[in-house]
Amino acid sequence: MDLGAGLKGRHILVTGASSGLGDHFARLCAGCGAAVTVAARRKDRLDDLVRDLKAAGAAEARSVSLDVADPDSIAAAFGALHALPDTVVNNAGIAEGGAAIDLDLAAFDRVIDTNLRGVWAVSTTAARAWRDAGRSGVIVNVASILGLRVAGGVGPYTVSKAGVVQMTQALGLEWARYGIRVNALAPGYIGTDINREFFETPPGQAMLKRIPMRRLGRPQDLDGAFLLLAGDASGWMTGATIPVDGGHLVSGL
Ligand code: NAI
Repeated sequence: MDLGAGLKGRHILVTGASSGLGDHFARLCAGCGAAVTVAARRKDRLDDLVRDLKAAGAAEARSVSLDVADPDSIAAAFGALHALPDTVVNNAGIAEGGAAIDLDLAAFDRVIDTNLRGVWAVSTTAARAWRDAGRSGVIVNVASILGLRVAGGVGPYTVSKAGVVQMTQALGLEWARYGIRVNALAPGYIGTDINREFFETPPGQAMLKRIPMRRLGRPQDLDGAFLLLAGDASGWMTGATIPVDGGHLVSGL
């Protein structure tokens, strides 16, 4: 089965597509023949990406400004879409580090507003539009192995991603009746802007040694699971979270 073939002609919206995994997922979907809308706050970077996608032969590529932490921005972005997406990829996310005991409550709010409330707000906006149009839809949330286990110094992030895992189940349950499927990817550590500095430090290097496969992931390591969840091959899956992590979750205690 060619997992990518199922995305041909589909309209896929990717949030947080101005860098890292979102940029990669947008290129992957476009390469499979999907019409892609990339959404984030940094419109200039999105426009560069759209140019790249078109130059690489993308069927259709568009960009839209979106701040997932701002409900007005979400409403405006959905209002500006040329068509309803078939698949929404909730990829936008931030991480703020620090010992919980001294962490400013505002830092907690920022992480939750983007990583958890943002996923809820984008998902419910899409689901209402699908329900009202009598259409089915697919949601792929980008959670994290830190939603399934914990690490020190990233408390709000782990809480937000555990919330995304639980939200995936809760919305999967509620929306199956509308033909809306909600699943999540839980990536292990992939080298992107979000963690590049950390993996240059001694604790970062030590962490790599605890990954059973002994290396940082690459964005393309997520392709199989992503394509499965984004298309019809996962047609009887909802509420599921798939870890893709080089074995990190099963590292020995
Ligand atoms: P990144 O920092 O390169 O990408 C995150 C993107 O989200 C950026 O383009 C950023 O501008 C965007 N974003 C942040 N706040 C936003 C907002 N309020 N509205 C719209 N866009 C916003 O990092 P990366 O690694 O590509 O992260 C993508 C997703 O993958 C995040 O949800 C992250 O938590 C998750 N993830 C990343 C892992 C990794 O090791 N890189 C591991 C597990 C999950």
